[in-house]
Amino acid sequence: MKTTLFTAALATAALAGPSSAQEETFTRIKIEAGKAFYDAECRRCHAADASDTSYGPPLENVIGRGAGTYPDYDYSIALSASGIVWTPAALRAWMEDNQGFMPGTKMRHVGITDRTVQDFILAYLASISPRDATKISE
Ligand code: HEC
Repeated sequence: MKTTLFTAALATAALAGPSSAQEETFTRIKIEAGKAFYDAECRRCHAADASDTSYGPPLENVIGRGAGTYPDYDYSIALSASGIVWTPAALRAWMEDNQGFMPGTKMRHVGITDRTVQDFILAYLASISPRDATKISE
């Protein structure tokens, strides 16, 4: 099923033609694919925002957000004391091996090592990060 999704995404992107319309199409496809992966790999623990129940911290505006700063979420000491900012590179390392990246986190290991899948999930996370991220990190 994952392969079918990739193939469909790539085929559609290839058909779009060389223009900024192509880039827009590709961005939209990456967000849609990312949402599918997010629903499969992350959604059971992470709502997009506080309007849904969420076992882990909601991930709205996570790109550029300080780690461990979602209001009122009960983080592990490891995460709240980490002092890192969720840049795309940090999010890749986290998706790849969160427990290796941050020993002591209470998030169960997810091992998303495929860079394309990471790209898709990052595109989706960017789409739910519309706000100036500095506000939520303060
Ligand atoms: C089994 C539940 C579970 C799954 C599945 C899961 N997470 Fe988490 N996630 C958590 C928990 C719990 C935390 C809080 C960890 C802590 O406090 O140490 C967390 C924390 C995070 C954080 C830190 C957020 C912050 O506010 O600092 C990010 C980013 C994150 N997860 C991304 C993801 C992504 C992306 C996926 C899917 C690829 C995913 N998680 C899958 C439970 C989960």
